[in-house]
Amino acid sequence: MKILVLGAAAGGGLPQWNCGCPNCEDARAGRLTPSGQSSLAVSADGSHWSILNASPDIRSQMQTCAALHPRSLRDTPVASVLLTNGDIDHIAGLLSLREQTPFTLFATAEIHGVLEQNRVFDAVSHDKVARREIALEASFELHPGLNAMLFAVPGKVPLFMEGETVQTDLVGEQTVGVRLSDGRKTAYYIPGCAHVPDDLLKRLQDADQLFFDGTLWDDDEMIRSGTGIKTGQRMGHISVSGPDGSIERLRGLSAAKTFIHINNTNPIWRPDSAERAYVLEHGWQVAADGQETTL
Ligand code: MLT
Ligand code: MN
Ligand code: ZN
Repeated sequence: MKILVLGAAAGGGLPQWNCGCPNCEDARAGRLTPSGQSSLAVSADGSHWSILNASPDIRSQMQTCAALHPRSLRDTPVASVLLTNGDIDHIAGLLSLREQTPFTLFATAEIHGVLEQNRVFDAVSHDKVARREIALEASFELHPGLNAMLFAVPGKVPLFMEGETVQTDLVGEQTVGVRLSDGRKTAYYIPGCAHVPDDLLKRLQDADQLFFDGTLWDDDEMIRSGTGIKTGQRMGHISVSGPDGSIERLRGLSAAKTFIHINNTNPIWRPDSAERAYVLEHGWQVAADGQETTL
């Protein structure tokens, strides 16, 4: 199984258009490597590919990835696209894939419902792009030789659909993780997760590779940095650090572990930071655009 990181950053990317935080400034000045929004491309055979989450950066992400280029006049090696939630950073890229070339679009009924409610997604032709509803905990084929299974993780409805009150640890079809298997190796992609319940920890025991929500270093990061008024918990994202954070909760796993969906304020972006050193010491990697893993 081949896994390409198309985008390592959370919604907004690095740098984010309206952000003057030190990380965004350094990314503009060439002192940090810029990063696109969270997405993976996966393949069992190196010729069929599936894209996990269609980020607003998909056009440039595909351009820099030769494996995803057309092989003839109108063509794509992309057999399918899978969505893990309905947030803009994971669905807006579908609009760039609207040019009448077939692929299969996989998501839960709830996430397909988000697309149905927003008519602009009708531009992704129903005739050419088959929309398949996937039940939780049911195995299906992303493309020949690569199976996937979706499972619920704690999360919330998409930001743009939030009402007056928001439940931030909903467990259902709004926010899912993906288990990938080629019959030999197993990988997981969980770019959004509010906390790690025991059943999730148990599920991940068979992972060879895990890509996991690395949005924030700690819960108050956006408030402290003056970039926002919400905690990580309010945003539906677990912290990397702390007693209930992902490093601590997932420390027993034998998998190779990589943080992805990293917010631009997160100090782990900085190769020389104490936080990056801490992450590496605890056996985690920090995803980078273009990174390739073969399992
Ligand atoms: C998130 O992961 O919290 C969302 O991507 C937020 C957003 O849509 O900007
Ligand atoms: Mn997001
Ligand atoms: Zn920033």
